Amino acid sequence: MARCHCRLRRVLICVCTPCIILALLCVYVTVMVFTTLNNTATPGAGGQVYTRDTAHFVAPGTCNNESFAPYPKTFWGFHTHKDAFWNQLQLSIDRSFNPILRPKSFKRGHETSTFYGSLLRQSFSEVKDMNSTSKKFKNLPQQIQDFVNHMHKRDYPILHQPVGVCGAGAKVEKKPPLLLLAIKTTELNFKNRQAIRKTWGQAGWIAGRKRNSSSAEESGGYVRRVFLLGKEDPEELGVDVSKLIQMESEQYGDILQWDFKDTFFNLTLKDVLFWSWFSRFCHQTQFVFKGDDDVFVNIPNMITFLEDQLKMPQANKTMKEFMVGEVIGAAIPSRANQSKYFIPDSFYKGLYPMYAGGGGVVYSGLLAKRLHIISKRVHLFPIDDVYVGMCMVRLNAYPVHHPAFLTFDFPGKEERETCAYHRILLVHKRSPKQVVSLWATVKNTQTQCWSVPLRDGNRQKSKPKPTVPQ
Ligand SMILES: *[C@@H]1O[C@H](CO)[C@@H](O)[C@H](O)[C@H]1NC(C)=O
Ligand SMILES: *[C@@H]1O[C@H](CO)[C@@H](O)[C@H](O)[C@H]1NC(C)=O
Ligand SMILES: *[C@@H]1O[C@H](CO)[C@@H](O)[C@H](O)[C@H]1NC(C)=O
Ligand SMILES: *[C@@H]1O[C@H](CO)[C@@H](O)[C@H](O)[C@H]1NC(C)=O
Ligand SMILES: *[C@@H]1O[C@H](CO)[C@@H](O)[C@H](O)[C@H]1NC(C)=O
Ligand SMILES: *[C@@H]1O[C@H](CO)[C@@H](O)[C@H](O)[C@H]1NC(C)=O
Repeated sequence: MARCHCRLRRVLICVCTPCIILALLCVYVTVMVFTTLNNTATPGAGGQVYTRDTAHFVAPGTCNNESFAPYPKTFWGFHTHKDAFWNQLQLSIDRSFNPILRPKSFKRGHETSTFYGSLLRQSFSEVKDMNSTSKKFKNLPQQIQDFVNHMHKRDYPILHQPVGVCGAGAKVEKKPPLLLLAIKTTELNFKNRQAIRKTWGQAGWIAGRKRNSSSAEESGGYVRRVFLLGKEDPEELGVDVSKLIQMESEQYGDILQWDFKDTFFNLTLKDVLFWSWFSRFCHQTQFVFKGDDDVFVNIPNMITFLEDQLKMPQANKTMKEFMVGEVIGAAIPSRANQSKYFIPDSFYKGLYPMYAGGGGVVYSGLLAKRLHIISKRVHLFPIDDVYVGMCMVRLNAYPVHHPAFLTFDFPGKEERETCAYHRILLVHKRSPKQVVSLWATVKNTQTQCWSVPLRDGNRQKSKPKPTVPQ
C-alpha cells in the first residue's frame, strides 16, 4: 500500500510539474507579447520639455476643441480605419514590418532601396486594383487623385546641387558643421532666398548669442545653407526660368533642385529626397534646421540653444531622437473642401500623429539619417509636416515642444515689446522686406536686450492647456 502511494506521488509529480511549468511559460509569453506591443507606441523618455502625458499640447490657431480623441496607445491602434485609402496602403507595409509576426524583417533596417521600392509599389497596386478602392478613387478631389497617381514614385533626378560637400560654406574647418539650414523654397521666390542669404541664413562660422558685454568666450559654430526646390512647369508659367536658377546655383552654390513639379502636395518629396541627399553628403553635420522661406530665425539664439543641447549630460542618447519645434498634438485632418489642407476621409481616417509645425523645426543629423531609412517604408502623405510625424511615430521618437518656435506668430501684443525678437528662435510668417528690417532691429537692440531669456510657456498669457487623455 505504501509503495503504491509512493508511486502515485511520483507519477503525479512527473505529470504535474511539466504542466505547471508550461502554464507559467504561457503567462510569461502573454505578458511579454503585450508589453512589446504597447511599447511600440509609447514615446521614448527622451523628451526634455513635454513627456507623453502632457503631450496633448495644441498650438494656438490649430484647433480649439478640447475633447480630443485619444492618441492610439497600442500598436493596433494605428489601424482602426482600414477603409481609407492611405490607411489601407500603409497597413500592408506595417504588417510586413510587424515586430511580432515578422520579427526578422522588423530588425533588418538596411535592405536596399529597391527592396523597399518594390514593397511600396506592390502594396500600392494591390490596394488600387481592389474594386472597392477604384470606385472610391474616382470620387477623390482632383489634386488628391493627382497625388495618388504619383505617390509611389520618389526617384526624381537632381537638377542642381551645392558644390562642395554639404551646402555653402563647406571649407576646411576645424570642427564638424553645427547646423545645416535646409530651406524649402520655389523657383520664383528669389527675393526670399536673397533676404535669407543676407540675414539669418549666412553660411560660415556664426557666433552664438552673447549673454553680456564682457563674455569673452565666443561660442558659435559652422553653419551651412541649402535651398530645396522643385520645378515650375514652364508651359503653365509661360516662361522658362531654369537658366536663372542655373546662374543662381553657380553664383551661390546653395541650390538643391529636383525634377518634380513644385506643388503643395509634392512638398513631402522635398523632405524625403533631402534626407536621402543629407545621408549621402552630410554625415558629420550635427543639426538640421528645416524651414520655409518666409520665416525669421534668431540664428545666434538658435546656435546657443543647440550648443546647450549638446552639453546636456545625456546628449549622446537623446540626439538619436532630437527634434524640437512647435508641436501639434492629435490634430484632426481638415475636412473643409476649400482648404489647402483638405484631406477627405476616404483618403485618410483618424487623427494625425503628433508633429512639429513645418514652418520651422530643428532636428539632429542622426535623426535625419534614421528618418531617411524609415521613410522608405512609409507611403508618401500629401502634407509634409504630418508625414514627418508619421515617420517619427514609426521610429518611436517624438518631437519636443519649445515655446520659442512661433509658427503661428506671436500671441497677442507680445510682438510690440522691445526685446520680443530676442526671446524667440523662430517666427513665421515674415516677408523678405520684414526679414531684412527685423535683422537690423535685432542687431541694434542687442545691448539693450542682453539679459532676456528665451520664451518659456509660463510667461505666456494664454498658457497651453494639457488635456487629459481620455
Ligand atoms: C469637439 O469635437 C468633438 C468630436 O470631434 C465634437 O463632438 C464636439 O462638438 C467638438 N467641440 C467643440 C467645442 O467644437
Ligand atoms: C470587380 O468588378 C468587376 C466589374 O465591375 C467584376 O466583374 C469583378 O468580379 C469584381 N471583382 C471582385 C473581386 O469583386
Ligand atoms: C558674462 O557671462 C558669462 C557666461 O556667458 C559669465 O560667466 C560671466 O559671469 C558674465 N559676466 C557678467 C559681468 O555678468
Ligand atoms: C508631383 O510631381 C510630379 C512630377 O513632376 C507630377 O507629375 C505630379 O503631378 C506632382 N503631384 C502633385 C500632387 O502636384
Ligand atoms: C558621445 O559621443 C561622442 C562622439 O559622438 C564621443 O566622443 C563621446 O565620448 C560620447 N560621450 C559619451 C558620454 O558617451
Ligand atoms: C465642397 O463641399 C460642398 C458641400 O459639402 C459641395 O457642395 C461642393 O461641391 C464641394 N466642392 C468641391 C470643390 O468639391
